[in-house]
Amino acid sequence: MVKGQKTVYVCQNCGAETAKWLGRCPSCNSWNTLVEEIRSKSKVSKRPDGFSAQPVLISKVAYFGKLRNPTNIKELDQVLGGGIVAGSIILIGGEPGIGKSTLTLQIAAQIENKNKQSVLYVSGEESIEQIKLRSERLGVKNENIYLLAENQLENILAQIEMLKPSLVIIDSIQTVYSDKLISSPGSVGQVRECTAEILRTIKGKGEAGPSVIIVGHITKFGSIAGPKTLEHIVDVVLYFEGDKFGQYRILRATKNRFGSTQEIGIFEMSENGLVGVESPSLLFLSHDHTQTQEKRVGSVVIPTIEGTRPILLEVQALAAPSYYTYPQRVCTGFDARRLAMLLCVLERHCGMNVGNQDIFVNTSGGLKISESGADLGILAAIASTYRNKPIDAKTAVVGEVSLAGEIRPVALTKNRINECVKMGFHALVRPAYNLQDKKDKKIEMFGATTVHQALEILGIV
Ligand SMILES: Nc1ncnc2c1ncn2[C@@H]1O[C@H](COP(=O)(O)OP(=O)(O)OP(=O)(O)O)[C@@H](O)[C@H]1O
Ligand SMILES: [Mg+2]
Repeated sequence: MVKGQKTVYVCQNCGAETAKWLGRCPSCNSWNTLVEEIRSKSKVSKRPDGFSAQPVLISKVAYFGKLRNPTNIKELDQVLGGGIVAGSIILIGGEPGIGKSTLTLQIAAQIENKNKQSVLYVSGEESIEQIKLRSERLGVKNENIYLLAENQLENILAQIEMLKPSLVIIDSIQTVYSDKLISSPGSVGQVRECTAEILRTIKGKGEAGPSVIIVGHITKFGSIAGPKTLEHIVDVVLYFEGDKFGQYRILRATKNRFGSTQEIGIFEMSENGLVGVESPSLLFLSHDHTQTQEKRVGSVVIPTIEGTRPILLEVQALAAPSYYTYPQRVCTGFDARRLAMLLCVLERHCGMNVGNQDIFVNTSGGLKISESGADLGILAAIASTYRNKPIDAKTAVVGEVSLAGEIRPVALTKNRINECVKMGFHALVRPAYNLQDKKDKKIEMFGATTVHQALEILGIV
């Protein structure tokens, strides 16, 4: 504990302060909301180095050297918007065993570093021998990686001062603790204070400071380090998604101060580490559509867009009469409220009595669909299983469905068409309004204005 400082417990709900930790806030009566924070006794808090920032004209701000360091991991660079920005803080979150340590070690090995500065890999979870073992499995060749098995924040910051690395990796923030707080490592107060202290140290140095990658565990509530407070402090937040028992991992940016949050990175976990997937469509199709003539009931391929990248995704639906008072609606990888809307459209505009059916919708490969362009495909899959009529395996379907049963245009059609052609599809059912580039010699295109018309084209009605 530093002299002149004390800690208090602050309710995150109402802001009330107490001297001791309590399970329930005495002011607003909410449970588990008290978090330890530092209070400085002196009225004016001074920075230890006596430095105070001065206003600078925007036109006079100069930065030197290269602002972005490519990591040379293609999928990651795409998500980051071209590489790691100098002096930025990146948070990588994900479930245990998903590959956070693997990715960070690969970054340390691959990062482009013109000045031959070192990388500092701080691990509070593994011994340096264990990291060495992993680095041998991954084939790490970079000689300039320093390993540090340390939990105490002040020591870590002192090592950063001495080594002056270009990149610092902290694996994980939940194992780091500051001496200023009494609470145990991993508590919300510790995680927040440690991240804020790192931020103060790094950002004060500007472009000359190192970039920092912080690994964060996801709590049982699904957020990084409990409340999402960390996400406001850092520059970039990356989440690892996907089934850790499966081979494939998806890296998604939920916040990026230096790039788009639309792009995703798709990796395959192999013995040599995470390998970028060149053709993601192959991943999300359950079989080779170019080889099959088979027609399948309740299965539709949708050319979706993730960022600027088209991915062919197979959606399967199953409908069966329900024996429950409330029919079940279960969907994975798709918004349940959107499903409810599509079912209502089917009922009102296509005359299908799906209200008494249990409906299950699944996307293959664990990819979550976030764009509305997948509506028509999902609707067609449900209609197909309900009517028990198959859909041609080489026909893809795309379009947004409106409440009036009309089909709205979708963005980036050219990319979608090219991907369908590349993967050997013969036909595409798409919004009629989108038919500006109607003619494509390699694929037959059908424009539909209403849901009913689209189902007719597919031979379901
Ligand atoms: N020899 C191997 N061959 C293939 N895959 C492996 C091998 N060894 C480890 N893995 C994969 O690496 C994963 C663990 O990666 P990593 O340690 O980077 O995860 P993590 O996200 O850091 O986990 P934690 O949160 O526990 O630290 C395993 O779940 C497994 O899928
Ligand atoms: Mg790890």
